[in-house]
Amino acid sequence: MGPPKGICLRDPAVHGRDVGGDGMAGDRGGARRVAICGKGGSGKTTIAGTLARVLARTGRSVVAIDGDSNPNLALTLGLSPAEAERIVPLPRDLLVERVEPSGERATVLREPPDRIVQTYGVCTPDNVTLILMGRVDHAGAG
Ligand SMILES: Nc1ncnc2c1ncn2[C@@H]1O[C@H](COP(=O)(O)OP(=O)(O)OP(=O)(O)O)[C@@H](O)[C@H]1O
Ligand SMILES: [Mg+2]
Repeated sequence: MGPPKGICLRDPAVHGRDVGGDGMAGDRGGARRVAICGKGGSGKTTIAGTLARVLARTGRSVVAIDGDSNPNLALTLGLSPAEAERIVPLPRDLLVERVEPSGERATVLREPPDRIVQTYGVCTPDNVTLILMGRVDHAGAG
């Protein structure tokens, strides 16, 4: 059996109240996006995972997106290797091209973001919802 699917439900008794008022996003504020970048092996995954867990423990809704083709954020978020292996990544055909009435081409999501999170999000121990962008299935030559 894999980890629970879908958006994590917050339990104030366990995860604390949404404190708000400190300049960070919470129920009473807008959503924020945080991107962690840096050179190889510099601690990106460790910082991203720890930050996500700390924020979730204060009661904030956190969606962590692992965009690494060799994803291991799941382990930092507290899943076991076996649970991490069972996560279904986002399908490659989630983005579709459409032609606007103006004739311009636009690349858009095939489904609303909320539904994507509900379908592909995985709940992790500190209530961070994890999404995998994709992973390399097979090593190739070259
Ligand atoms: N503050 C720290 N002190 C000591 N070791 C650390 C620290 N942060 C991370 N590490 C260790 O450094 C190694 C690389 O960390 P991490 O995997 O987070 O880096 P990364 O930038 O995500 O790497 P990659 O580019 O391969 O994805 C890991 O073994 C991790 O446990
Ligand atoms: Mg990493």
